[in-house]
Amino acid sequence: MTLECIADAAAHFQHSEQLQRGWPFHGLSGLVSFAREDVRQMDEARFRQAMGHFATGVAVVTARHEGEISGMTVNAFASVSLEPMLLLICIEKRVRTHDLIASSGRFGVSILRSDQEEISRRFASPSENKFSGVGLRDGETATPLLDPCLATVECRVYDTLPGGDHTIYLGEVTAMQVFDGDPLIYFRGGYHQLR
Ligand SMILES: Cc1cc2nc3c(=O)[nH]c(=O)nc-3n(C[C@H](O)[C@H](O)[C@H](O)COP(=O)(O)O)c2cc1C
Repeated sequence: MTLECIADAAAHFQHSEQLQRGWPFHGLSGLVSFAREDVRQMDEARFRQAMGHFATGVAVVTARHEGEISGMTVNAFASVSLEPMLLLICIEKRVRTHDLIASSGRFGVSILRSDQEEISRRFASPSENKFSGVGLRDGETATPLLDPCLATVECRVYDTLPGGDHTIYLGEVTAMQVFDGDPLIYFRGGYHQLR
């Protein structure tokens, strides 16, 4: 019997007529919430695992507002439309870059090269000095962009859509540049290179 079945059975039993009449079955609500939490964690792990089978490139999204800059590693990044020219990024609501994009109304995307795994790791964990020693240049709209990298895209926020604990930022492309090199690949929770 799976945890989900146990949780469902316990929940059903808990709400049965006999219980409402006051049967002395203490601890059942504890079992229900324990089992539900386990099911949720198991589903989350399975979701992460399933999505991890979709190989992606890796990019660093950057934003600047009133002298403050921030950046974070992303792979929830996709092109959306040609007319107008739109792309999307999905940004967790509680990260710093989320609010900086909202305040500035702009963001930059720097697509990483195969030799930039360390940059990806650095921008995927919270730190005060993520940019220390990292090559940067200002884009056409003064958005900070990584230099070097494989390609850069600058955007103004075109629209935002709700995405659960993330916000989907639709960006209208205002500038782009491409450079030579191979991409950094993210697959099943690890970094890879094209073979
Ligand atoms: C390969 C990879 C891809 C990621 N993609 C995203 C993403 O698309 N959206 C997101 O909100 N977080 C993503 N993250 C997690 C953020 O990079 C991480 O939460 C980061 O620490 C946020 O920056 P902050 O802590 O400075 O706010 C990704 C992490 C990795 C390693």
